[in-house]
Amino acid sequence: MPSTDLSKKGFSLNSGYTIPAIGLGTWQSKPGEVEKAVEVALRCGYRHIDTATAYGNEAEVGAGIRASGVPREEIFLTTKLHNQWHTRVSEALDQSLQKLRTNYVDLYLIHWPCATDPGDLTKVVPDWDYVQTWAEMQKLLSTKKVKSIGVSNFGIMHLERLLHDSSCQVVPAVNQIELHPNRPSPKLVAYNTLKGIHSTAYSCLGSTGSPLYKNQTLLDLAQAKGRSVQQVLIRWGLQKGWSVIPKSVNPDRIKGNLVVDGWDLTDREMAAIDAIPQRFKVCDGSFLPPVMHDKIFYGDDE
Ligand SMILES: NC(=O)c1ccc[n+]([C@@H]2O[C@H](COP(=O)([O-])OP(=O)(O)OC[C@H]3O[C@@H](n4cnc5c(N)ncnc54)[C@H](OP(=O)(O)O)[C@@H]3O)[C@@H](O)[C@H]2O)c1
Repeated sequence: MPSTDLSKKGFSLNSGYTIPAIGLGTWQSKPGEVEKAVEVALRCGYRHIDTATAYGNEAEVGAGIRASGVPREEIFLTTKLHNQWHTRVSEALDQSLQKLRTNYVDLYLIHWPCATDPGDLTKVVPDWDYVQTWAEMQKLLSTKKVKSIGVSNFGIMHLERLLHDSSCQVVPAVNQIELHPNRPSPKLVAYNTLKGIHSTAYSCLGSTGSPLYKNQTLLDLAQAKGRSVQQVLIRWGLQKGWSVIPKSVNPDRIKGNLVVDGWDLTDREMAAIDAIPQRFKVCDGSFLPPVMHDKIFYGDDE
C-alpha cells in the first residue's frame, strides 16, 4: 500500500456518490460538546459527519455545520432511522431534516434491523420487520431528501434475506458496522464487498474506554511509527478498505485523528494488527427488546 493521501480519498458507493474516507462520529458526545466538535472537525478538513436520531444530537450537529461556515454541499451528512420509527420512515426523516436544518442527508441508514414498539421499548412491532422498513427507505430516493440509503448492524443473514426479497430494488449503499482489531468481522466485510455494499467502521477506535489503547501490539507499533495508537487504528481501517468515523470532542484529538497521510502500515504491520487475538464487542444490543437478542447477532461475521 503506497503512502497515498488516504484521508483525502473517498470510497465510491453503488449509488454513484462518494463517501469520505474519514468522518466524525458523534455518539455519546455530551450535549453542549457536539456543536463545537462538528465545527472544529469541518474547519480542519473533515467532510463527513455521522449522527443518528438515537443520539439525540441532530440539532446540535446541524448548528455545528452552520457555525463551521463550510458549505452544506461540501459535507457528507449521515443520519439513522431510530428503532422506534420503522413503521414511520418518511415522518422520521422529516423530523431529522428539521432538527439538522437541512433539505437532505447524504446517507440515511436503518440503525438496527429491529422495529421496536414506540410505546414499549421491551417489545417489537408485531408483523413488521426490516424488509418492510427497507421498502419504505427505497421510496425516499425519489423525494431527493436522501442521496443514498443503507443499513447498519446488519449481518449476513439479514442481508441475504433482504437482497433475496422481491421488494428489494435497491442494494444498500453502505452497511455501517462495528469494526476494529477486536471485532474485525472478515466474513461480513467480504460479504458486503461481494454484494457491492461499502463497509463503514463504527467504534473504529474501540469506543469509550477502549481496551485497544492498552494493547501492546498497537503500543509498540505506534511507538515504532512515531504515531498515536488512534492514528494507527484509523490508518489500519483505511488500508483495509473501509471508511472510518472516529468520535472525539477534544479539538486536538479531532485534528490528530485526521493526520494519517504520508506514511503507511506495511503488509507485515497490517498482519500484526490482524493477528491481535482478543475479541470484544462494544454494541451488544442489550438495549434492544429481549426477543431480538438472538435475532440480531447470529455470529455470522467471523
Ligand atoms: N451504527 C451504530 O450502531 C453505531 C454504534 C456505535 C457508534 N457509531 C458511530 O461511530 C462513531 C465512533 O464510534 P464510538 O463513538 O463508539 O467510538 P470510537 O470512535 O471508537 O472511540 C471514541 C473514544 O475514543 C476517544 N478518542 C478519540 N480520539 C482519541 C485520541 N486521538 N486519543 C485518545 N482518545 C481518543 C474518545 O474520547 P474523546 O471524545 O474524549 O476524545 C472516545 O472516548 C460514533 O460516535 C457513532 O457516530 C455507530
